[in-house]
Amino acid sequence: MLSKIPFDLDRIEEEDLDRQILRIAIIAELDAINLYEQLASLTEDEALRAILLDVAREEKTHVGEFMTLLLKKDEEQVEELEEGKAEVEEILEEEET
Ligand SMILES: [Fe+2]
Repeated sequence: MLSKIPFDLDRIEEEDLDRQILRIAIIAELDAINLYEQLASLTEDEALRAILLDVAREEKTHVGEFMTLLLKKDEEQVEELEEGKAEVEEILEEEET
């Protein structure tokens, strides 16, 4: 099931437009990864499975491209990404003790 993206151009502030475009592009790439991996798991054809998984890997590169640009345009996302990493590391450290 592909993501349904809430999208209403009239409601997007001009200064937010490129950030929203980038987030939508990232969602599309993440959907593509899941779709290709799910399709790969369905086929019995090894060549087709290999190609689907290779394409899925390429979609991860595309996530990286869009995310890199988004992080240059969204300082809050940079900060919250770091906050999220720190919270996960803290939880994982607690689980290990
Ligand atoms: Fe892609």
